[in-house]
Amino acid sequence: MNILILGAGGREHAFAYKIAESKNCDQLFVAPGNAGTSQIAKNVNLKVTNFAQIKDFVLKENIEMVVVGPEDPLVEGIYDFFMDDSELKEVAVIGPSKRGALLEGSKERAKEFMMMYNIPTAAYESFTPKSLEAGKAFLTNLKSPYVLKADGLAGGKGVLIIDDLEEAQQELEHMLMNSKFGKASNKVVIEEFLDGIELSVFVLTDGKNYKILPTAKDYKRIGEGNSGLNTGGMGAISPVPFADETLMKKIEDRIVKPTIKGLQEEDIEYKGFIFIGLIKVGEEPYVIEYNVRMGDPETEVVLPRIESDLVELLQKVSEQKLDEATLKIKEDSAVTVMLVSGGYPEAYEKGKEISGIENVQDSIVFHAGTAESEGKIVSSGGRVIAVTSFGKDYQEALKKSYQNVDKLHFDKMYYRKDLGFDLA
Ligand code: AMP
Ligand code: GLY
Repeated sequence: MNILILGAGGREHAFAYKIAESKNCDQLFVAPGNAGTSQIAKNVNLKVTNFAQIKDFVLKENIEMVVVGPEDPLVEGIYDFFMDDSELKEVAVIGPSKRGALLEGSKERAKEFMMMYNIPTAAYESFTPKSLEAGKAFLTNLKSPYVLKADGLAGGKGVLIIDDLEEAQQELEHMLMNSKFGKASNKVVIEEFLDGIELSVFVLTDGKNYKILPTAKDYKRIGEGNSGLNTGGMGAISPVPFADETLMKKIEDRIVKPTIKGLQEEDIEYKGFIFIGLIKVGEEPYVIEYNVRMGDPETEVVLPRIESDLVELLQKVSEQKLDEATLKIKEDSAVTVMLVSGGYPEAYEKGKEISGIENVQDSIVFHAGTAESEGKIVSSGGRVIAVTSFGKDYQEALKKSYQNVDKLHFDKMYYRKDLGFDLA
């Protein structure tokens, strides 16, 4: 079949890498893609939220499956757009319906869903401009640190964790009254702070059946020891060493099963990935957030560990026969180290020539923010390249990635040298 992947990052390069190796894939397109995806697929210049433009392309190229990378098209309803169109409804769209995507599109909706199905999560209340004063009073009754979350999509930046009560009250006011995060913060969820270690669990579902994919841990902060500003993710490790059988059983019974049950009870069509962000507090897992897509850079470690044919799995998802599929996972650990532009996640320069890719051995180079310019590969984003390696454990895999990172260069390149520091 002909397949179209939507997105432009390392996640989409990892999808393209897995899909291109499938015997079920004829022609593969990535829109808009990057300099890495263009080596294994055909890049097409489409905007991921321009559904009319995507429709024309899908019909023209006989696309039978669309794999949606980022959340925006999902939250804007690309699944429903296809299902409601007589010319498109046979095309398999991998991703949830608009109602399903609200689990990521609204933090309040996600919390209500978790409450409804008894899924463990932090206690919370949500506030609007009208209830600002009640919000400030609510903060007074909580213990520091205070967790404030913009209800809507804010590109991963909408969560503030603040130690000081007055500052938290001021920020709440900025969010609600001055649209600190635009429309996304017209509503704010305030929640109890959970103290523990984070991990992510990925689930592939057809809305009825599910498969739990490899776990991963992502390093979000720019600085060593998890310090400094939040980024899209500076690296990832899979599997998560502390996600043992006991913890995974709790996660499956208390979180994954009730989540799928909730989708079914509410008749929500969901044929795609659920990325569950978790915190382990003591020995107990709590949900911090749902994402309705794969993570980036988590995909760069999760997909390479899947031995089964990904297209076959996705076809089963679209036919709602995922129970008939088998999921085979590599025992080896995988890690990815993200190389970023100097200055990121604040202002940075683009267009820096990247050298050394041809010298990398025994690792996979996933392009995140790259472009081709005059025959050269240059940086075109904050996160530039993810170097993924396998090993018998994450330490061995990390060693390989770091050895290969030493062979890569671009002006002001930066990366974290301490991935896994919190796992030893
Ligand atoms: P989110 O965008 O919901 O993933 O939140 C961003 C980050 O904020 C998470 O990865 C956690 O590190 C942190 N966080 C979110 N909610 C909580 C909470 N209730 N307690 C502690 N940390 C949190
Ligand atoms: N790495 C976090 C995310 O994709 O949301």
